[in-house]
Order: sequence, then structure tokens, then C-alpha cells
Amino acid sequence: MATLIVYDSAYGNTEKISKAIADGLAGQTTVLRVNEANSVDVKTFDLLIVGSPTYGGRATPAIKRFIDHLPANALNNINVSAFDTRISGKDKGFGIKIITNIFGYAAGRIAKELEGKGGKLAASPEGFIVEGKEGPLKQGELERAADWAKHIGQKDA
Ligand SMILES: Cc1cc2nc3c(=O)[nH]c(=O)nc-3n(C[C@H](O)[C@H](O)[C@H](O)COP(=O)(O)O)c2cc1C
Repeated sequence: MATLIVYDSAYGNTEKISKAIADGLAGQTTVLRVNEANSVDVKTFDLLIVGSPTYGGRATPAIKRFIDHLPANALNNINVSAFDTRISGKDKGFGIKIITNIFGYAAGRIAKELEGKGGKLAASPEGFIVEGKEGPLKQGELERAADWAKHIGQKDA
């Protein structure tokens, strides 16, 4: 199984999760920061996973642009999934709490957009917790990311 993981990351937490997912996946995995991914031919992969920090309940503008620029049906016959990083409830300020209540998180939206380009959802979108805007990741999240990836591999096999 050839997998492409495309991620965005301002403070490095989403990048770490991307690499943990790559470690958990069977087969050949390419991990690219979103600004390196725009010229990649997604059709050469069996599985595309897109990961983003949650910004105002959504993916970052760069991730959104990446998905928007995929031609219609570009992901036909390709398995897809998505993840985000997000602040835990106890670390959320008042503003982010309100935004979360209204808009939720990025992963579900990304997954829907990938399905909209023809992708087949291979695993439920997942969120990984950071303790504050810059992190660090909550303890155990890297292991949970690798486990999530193993689950995708099994489902796909
Ligand atoms: C502009 C901005 C908006 C954010 N909005 C949210 C949000 O709506 N919900 C949330 O849980 N976290 C929010 N966060 C926290 C980010 O999710 C957190 O910074 C990110 O997961 C860190 O990932 P990174 O280290 O890969 O950049 C926001 C952070 C920034 C900078």
C-alpha cells in the first residue's frame, strides 16, 4: 500500500503526529508538508491522509487550498482519511470554547471534502490533543496516532 500523508503545522505538533502515523502504517509512506504537495500526482497513491491544526474549527488555509485545487474526482479509487490537532477542553480559552461549540474541529470537514473529490473514507477522522496553542502534545498521543494508522492498514488489507 502506497500512502501519502499531507500535513500543515505551525508549531510542529501536527508534523510529529504525521510521522507517528507514517511509522504505524504498513507499506511505503510519503510524508509531505502541504506546500511541497501541490505538484504531487495523488493518483499514484492508494491512500491519502490529510492532517491539519484546527484553526477556528477548520483546516488551515493551505490545507484548504490543497484540497480545493484537486480536480473533481481526483480521488476516485483512492482511500482517504483525515486528522487534526486541537486544544483539550481544559486548555481552551473562552473564545475557542465558543468557536468549538459552533464549528467543531477540522478533521471531519477535511474528510468530507476528500470524499467530495471522490475519495473512499478508510477510517473515521481523528483528533489529537495539544496542551495549549504551541503544544506539547498530550502524553500518549504519538502512540495513539500510530495505533490509529495500524487500524487503517488492517481495514484496508
Ligand atoms: C489562529 C489559531 C486558531 C485556533 N483555533 C483553534 C480551534 O478552533 N480549536 C482548537 O481546538 N484549537 C485551535 N487552535 C489551536 C491549534 O489547534 C494548535 O495551535 C495546533 O493544534 C498546533 O498544531 P501545530 O503545532 O502543528 O501548529 C488554534 C490556534 C491558532 C494559532
